[in-house]
Amino acid sequence: MSNAAAPASQGADRTDSPLHVAVIMDGNGRWAAARGLPRAEGHRRGVEALRRVVRAAHELGILYLTIFSFSSENWSRPATEIGDLFGLLRRFIRNDLATLHRDGVRVRVIGERQGLESDICALLSEAEELTRDNTRLNLVVAFNYGSRQEIANAAQRLAREVAEGRRDPASIDADALGQYLDAPDIPDPDLIIRTSGEQRLSNFLMWQAAYSELVFVPVHWPDFDKAALESAIAEYGRRERRFGGLAAAKTGS
Ligand code: IPE
Ligand code: IPE
Ligand code: MG
Repeated sequence: MSNAAAPASQGADRTDSPLHVAVIMDGNGRWAAARGLPRAEGHRRGVEALRRVVRAAHELGILYLTIFSFSSENWSRPATEIGDLFGLLRRFIRNDLATLHRDGVRVRVIGERQGLESDICALLSEAEELTRDNTRLNLVVAFNYGSRQEIANAAQRLAREVAEGRRDPASIDADALGQYLDAPDIPDPDLIIRTSGEQRLSNFLMWQAAYSELVFVPVHWPDFDKAALESAIAEYGRRERRFGGLAAAKTGS
């Protein structure tokens, strides 16, 4: 696994420990269906998995953990299921915020706030405010999040600056657009894990995932645990990140 010979300056980089892990927590419904339980029970058990994984993330020295908890497209689900998911978010923040804060977790939220119920917005802001000075682990909650919408919003802000004469269109490059994404200070995910065997991004971090390593695991989210996270990280450690450069073995000569 050692990559000691890889010169960082060549752009090749293989590392055992990702700084930023993002997770598409999928399969709650199928987990429940396989047990003859209502989908809501799968979501409830999914929150327990989330607690385990947050704890495991800081034990493993991960600095940023992003979780996909509700997508812009999840509004197409039945109202009862949306109600269950929002209820779980409310309960998660109310029950877990104090513990997260005590454990040095900084909560960040990405996604569209407009149109959300005011008590949800208040809870999200409270979580961000209370934990803003914490540095041990950044828990980035993607809620009502869609990558296309995030990029379109950034484009809109840039277009407005151009229309108001405050920006030269020639200054719009990838860095400029990236600055207007929801959390521009957070580094791109090194590793994106999706549970439940599905192999797609479903509108999650599509800009930021340009050079992320993708690991798809067959287990449904309620069964995901520290061992599963460690094994995804081990898989990440076996990958060679090249960022468009040359393979490590071919560099330096
Ligand atoms: C993930 O589980 C939770 C959310 C998308 C909110 P699903 O609810 O998508 O579960 P499956 O994919 O139907 O099994
Ligand atoms: C992605 O899962 C969204 C979340 C995990 C919150 P979905 O279950 O909504 O994705 P698709 O519909 O299978 O692509
Ligand atoms: Mg799903």
